[in-house]
Amino acid sequence: MARKTVNVALIGQGFMGRAHSNAWTQVNRFFRPAATAVMHTACGRNRASLEDFAARWGWRNCSTNLRAVLRSDEIDLVDLCTPTAMHYAMVTDALAAGKNIACEKPLATKLDQARELVALARKAKAKTFVWYNYRRCPAVATAHQLVRAGRIGRIYHVRAVYLQDWAKPEIPLAWRFDRKLAGSGSHGDLNAHIIDMCRFVTGEEITEIAGAIAETFIKERAILTGDTTGGLSLGMKKGARKGKVTVDDAVLFLARFSGGAVASFEATRMATGYQNYHGFEIHGTKGAVRFKFERMNELEYYDATADRAVQGWTTIMCTHGGCHPYAEAWWPDAHVIGYEHAFTNQAYDILQVLGDKKPVVPLPNFADAYETQRVLEAAMISAAQKRPVKLAEVK
Ligand SMILES: NC(=O)c1ccc[n+]([C@@H]2O[C@H](COP(=O)([O-])OP(=O)(O)OC[C@H]3O[C@@H](n4cnc5c(N)ncnc54)[C@H](O)[C@@H]3O)[C@@H](O)[C@H]2O)c1
Repeated sequence: MARKTVNVALIGQGFMGRAHSNAWTQVNRFFRPAATAVMHTACGRNRASLEDFAARWGWRNCSTNLRAVLRSDEIDLVDLCTPTAMHYAMVTDALAAGKNIACEKPLATKLDQARELVALARKAKAKTFVWYNYRRCPAVATAHQLVRAGRIGRIYHVRAVYLQDWAKPEIPLAWRFDRKLAGSGSHGDLNAHIIDMCRFVTGEEITEIAGAIAETFIKERAILTGDTTGGLSLGMKKGARKGKVTVDDAVLFLARFSGGAVASFEATRMATGYQNYHGFEIHGTKGAVRFKFERMNELEYYDATADRAVQGWTTIMCTHGGCHPYAEAWWPDAHVIGYEHAFTNQAYDILQVLGDKKPVVPLPNFADAYETQRVLEAAMISAAQKRPVKLAEVK
């Protein structure tokens, strides 16, 4: 019997536009999803670059008419890869047109908008997904399964960091430095990922922010000439004038989890020497797990129930098909995978859900991403007001 097909429309051709295009290109080849992705339309604003993009990545059509794409009867799934401030209006229009939506993270720039999108999606009975792609690194999915299987026991301590160093003073005032377009800086960009990963792996919710610090080190940056919403890699031109940076460069906070664990989170774009270092450590009564993205194929596991004489950290190569989620779709054991594979793994799970099957591990939908957004909001309130914030205050 022919499998169901899903016509995808991609909005945005920047960093994530490329990452998602690659995932849609690969997913039907490496997996046998319950529904097959059809790369129907790429939508953007510049016809010439869009045509080149569509041809290069294999999109069948391209369009600069966003409204027409969002309303087209031919589109089943809208995949949003635009700057965060644009998610709200695009999602609202797509939901009104009855589409399912895969939206980049964070869901919105403001908590009330995110809440509204959750309600609208529920009302529209849409299937929604948010690209918290790191859940689908096999090692992170394995950590989630170890915790669920009780191998870590009661969790005492969670430590997570996301460290980058690209926001040097000479970097211009791109959309990522503009609160109106991005919502926040390192916080929504980086903390969002580690909050999501720690919620996912522990299976617990954050109940309180005990304290937070937000800092903007570079207060002004050169204003861009021309389009300010393109990717940093698109060769943006700097003008002579400077404009104000309205987001954080770094946000650190302490938190409590629902099971009683204490936690620390750090996100920064100013950690000289770290280009894209992130990961977590989770310590419990029976054991611990440790993940760092720079060694993304590996999960470190400590079995505190083992004979004391042989206790120690074990490095698990999470590429073994049959043992580790998603691994058997790829290559033979220890033929390592990379950044882009987590997106393809997520595209597979999205297609499973659209084909009425279960994802391999839980997928973040709008309601789930809203919980991460609440934590982001609570930490920002805590930093601004210099006080602890209970999540119950942030609804
Ligand atoms: N999941 C992840 O790991 C990850 C990584 C990076 C970015 N993101 C998220 O992805 C989103 C996009 O980030 P990016 O890094 O790809 O940005 P980017 O600046 O590289 O690309 C943005 C794209 O959107 C296009 N665009 C802007 N306004 C548009 C409009 N009105 N209509 C159509 N297209 C428009 C731009 O031309 C560009 O092609 C953001 O929400 C960001 O937070 C997620």
